[in-house]
Amino acid sequence: MSKLKLVHIVGARPQFIKSGAVSRAIKSDARFGDIEERYIHTGQHYDKNMSGNFFSELEIPEPNYNLGVGSDTHGRQTALMLERIEKVLIQERPDWVFIYGDTNSTLAGVVAASKLQLKVAHIEAGLRNYNRKMPEEINRIIADKVSDVLFAPTENAMNILKTEGLSERAVLVGDVMYDSLMFYKDLAEQRISSEFKNRYSDFYLATIHRAENTNDLQRLQNIFEAFSRLDAPVVIPLHPRTQKIINRINFNDNVIIIEPVSYLEMIYLLKSSKKVLTDSGGLQKEAFILKKPCVTLMDDTAWIETLENNWNFTVGAETELILEKIECNTFGERGDHFGNGNSSGEILEYILSYI
Ligand code: UD1
Repeated sequence: MSKLKLVHIVGARPQFIKSGAVSRAIKSDARFGDIEERYIHTGQHYDKNMSGNFFSELEIPEPNYNLGVGSDTHGRQTALMLERIEKVLIQERPDWVFIYGDTNSTLAGVVAASKLQLKVAHIEAGLRNYNRKMPEEINRIIADKVSDVLFAPTENAMNILKTEGLSERAVLVGDVMYDSLMFYKDLAEQRISSEFKNRYSDFYLATIHRAENTNDLQRLQNIFEAFSRLDAPVVIPLHPRTQKIINRINFNDNVIIIEPVSYLEMIYLLKSSKKVLTDSGGLQKEAFILKKPCVTLMDDTAWIETLENNWNFTVGAETELILEKIECNTFGERGDHFGNGNSSGEILEYILSYI
């Protein structure tokens, strides 16, 4: 039997976690021994602590191609990726192209691959928050419209694809980030240095990087005002986008800003924190899975499952609302919405039997 060639297109931090789960399944499960992987890294994220460290820590194969695109306006960044991805795909002619999530690397990947009439699978399909101001929402819509197979992480994502007339191409497989979290949640404890473990105690964990918050200094100021008034320190591994403007924001010693941390360090911080404040989709979901109450610093969320029984609140950037909702301590049942930890295996089985 000839090998099936699969190209992963990744570029931003959450995509390394997602593709890493699929690569681990390929490596560890004999059923997938005939799959040959190639990695295209667009270079959207390029700092060591935003990119390289994830490949080594999650044992992801070294990218075969690093396109070195880096940061730019949306149009130029996506255009450069498109041009460079196309060139590689013409050379590689894979059987499948996997795109992940909703970044500009996802968008460039799906456009380049589908125009070359290559088969494309969108992993994490069917997410919407119906907010077209977010670049991610535009990227998701295009990725779902154009891909050949839509691997949906949840029932809700399946329903959304149905309402958009995309059911025929949709497959419910669960969430690859859940696979990853299940695999690493105990390992994180073992692998993190005790020096790191002892650094913070009795703290809130926060992240903030969405354009909606970082492009509007008043929103960012309101959020940091809330952080400054919380009843315990707020540890923030700060994304470079936010780092660039942080000196224009006022806050007090309650806010502890640190460099971006590795995936395992993040899991450790999440597990040892009191609660979470974030505008990251992935972290909202990881908080829910690990039973950490979350306050989402956005007006909406695409992961509506997490809003169940007070486990997550969308509060936007309103200082008083953030302070009110973080105090909520009445929680109800939480459902299991994200699969069984074997989404990657289901995805690979599906493409092997795809006609
Ligand atoms: C991207 C994704 C977002 C995802 C996030 C995860 C899009 C539209 N957005 O946003 O969905 O949640 O990644 O982190 O694709 N920068 C650095 N070093 C890096 C990477 C970025 O300094 O390694 C700086 C750049 O100079 C740029 C800013 O961060 O000004 C934003 O980078 P960008 O590529 O726009 O993506 P993110 O904001 O990270």
